[in-house]
Amino acid sequence: MLKPNFKEAKKRTKDDIKVLRNEYVIPDDVKNIGKNKKYFIKTYGCQMNEHDSEMISAILEDMSYTKTSDYEDADLIILNTCAIRENAHNKTFGMLGRIKHMKQEKPGLMVGLAGCMSQEESVVEEIINKYKWMDFVFGTHNIHKLPEILQEHVRTKKLEVNVWSNEGNVIEGIPSKRDSKYKAWVNIMYGCDKFCTYCIVPYTRGKQRSRMPEDIIDEVKDLIKRGYQEVTLLGQNVNAYGKDFKNTDYKMENLLSDVAKTGIKRVRFVTSHPWDFTDNMIEVIAKYDNICNYIHLPVQSGSSRILKLMGRRYTKEDYLKLYNKIKAKVKNCSITTDIIVGFPGETKEDFKQTLDLVKKCKFDSAFTFIYSPREGTPAAKMVDETTLEEKEQRLHKLNELVNKYSKDANRKLVGKIIPVLLESVSEKDENMLAGYTDTMKLVNVKADKKYIGKIVNVKILDAKTWSLDGEINE
Ligand code: 5AD
Ligand code: SF4
Repeated sequence: MLKPNFKEAKKRTKDDIKVLRNEYVIPDDVKNIGKNKKYFIKTYGCQMNEHDSEMISAILEDMSYTKTSDYEDADLIILNTCAIRENAHNKTFGMLGRIKHMKQEKPGLMVGLAGCMSQEESVVEEIINKYKWMDFVFGTHNIHKLPEILQEHVRTKKLEVNVWSNEGNVIEGIPSKRDSKYKAWVNIMYGCDKFCTYCIVPYTRGKQRSRMPEDIIDEVKDLIKRGYQEVTLLGQNVNAYGKDFKNTDYKMENLLSDVAKTGIKRVRFVTSHPWDFTDNMIEVIAKYDNICNYIHLPVQSGSSRILKLMGRRYTKEDYLKLYNKIKAKVKNCSITTDIIVGFPGETKEDFKQTLDLVKKCKFDSAFTFIYSPREGTPAAKMVDETTLEEKEQRLHKLNELVNKYSKDANRKLVGKIIPVLLESVSEKDENMLAGYTDTMKLVNVKADKKYIGKIVNVKILDAKTWSLDGEINE
């Protein structure tokens, strides 16, 4: 049994990061364990987790499992979890409660826990003490070891806990079964060294480590060959890409231009930290048409005092300066953000500063959260006297403002003709298709299914807070 250890996970040494290319192997005796069996993966949290689930899918299919979208029909269920806020925890434990009943009726059912919650000491203790009926737990660092973990579980028939808390290496060669045929997540780096005081990610995902540029470019070229139109370069803090390389100063701006030069129709990247956003990067984004005019730039708070307590390394003024620079240099750039309300010690005045910043930026949209203490992080030990009721009121007020600006931004597009990558049948109406503009606006379009997978010109007819309606304009 290998349990997670936060003390280890927190360590950052100067040791070289290794790129390991031959780590993924499937032992012969598990190659067919999934024959005539179905798997179901429930994914919580961010895009990184979604992409990890695509890898878990491919690994399970290499062991002969087939996918089902109905968990009640599955022989193997994996919950790929998120640890960023308490409610993500609660959802996972709620789901485990439901699965426990299923397992009583279907004893052959195998159930595993993966993702960021698996990296938390307290979660794994709880699983060991109260969820002994589960079959296996693995973490974010050893997804590629899933075949061996299953093999061990089959041998011992006991709960197999195998979670690594090392800083992490770069593991190449893990297959991926992508959910979309048109747009793809591409990891460019793993982990985070920023240690913002509220955030659990540096503990659950390890040290920052960048993939080699050649590996990323090869992956993008291969995606182009297979008909992909869009890639999203993924990392917790993509602007810091390359900072961990020792003998080269290849950085995010170099990677962005090289990915743009592959000719892929659209390039996106998430998530950016304002601290590492260089002028060169802005220039590259402005220069290449296929780099989308869309930047997710989390601000977290508009109060410089709170930003300092959060360990964000910029002030409100620094953020506004960067924001305005991007807006001036990248034409029609849509900028979205993340905001936390109710960080420990946030006063009414601090909150007013956040509202003021939102008024100045008029974000295209914003994800807003109530601060959630994460065990083991510095902020969890800070004094927090604001009541939940007050925090909820702040969130409500913030959301009203944010939504007003989202709708304003959408309204400005009515009557315009904009390219949209149509990717699926619309969730709201089966006679419509849904897709995104390069500025990341969701558009529902009256269109024949033959347009799925294509970038087409759409005339915008109507604007809502979170989406647009349109029709094909050829
Ligand atoms: N509580 C609330 N929100 C958080 N986020 C990260 N950690 C916490 C926390 N402890 C938010 C940040 C981040 C987004 C992914 O989640 O806004 O940008
Ligand atoms: Fe968490 Fe992002 Fe800060 Fe890293 S940069 S610690 S992932 S909020």
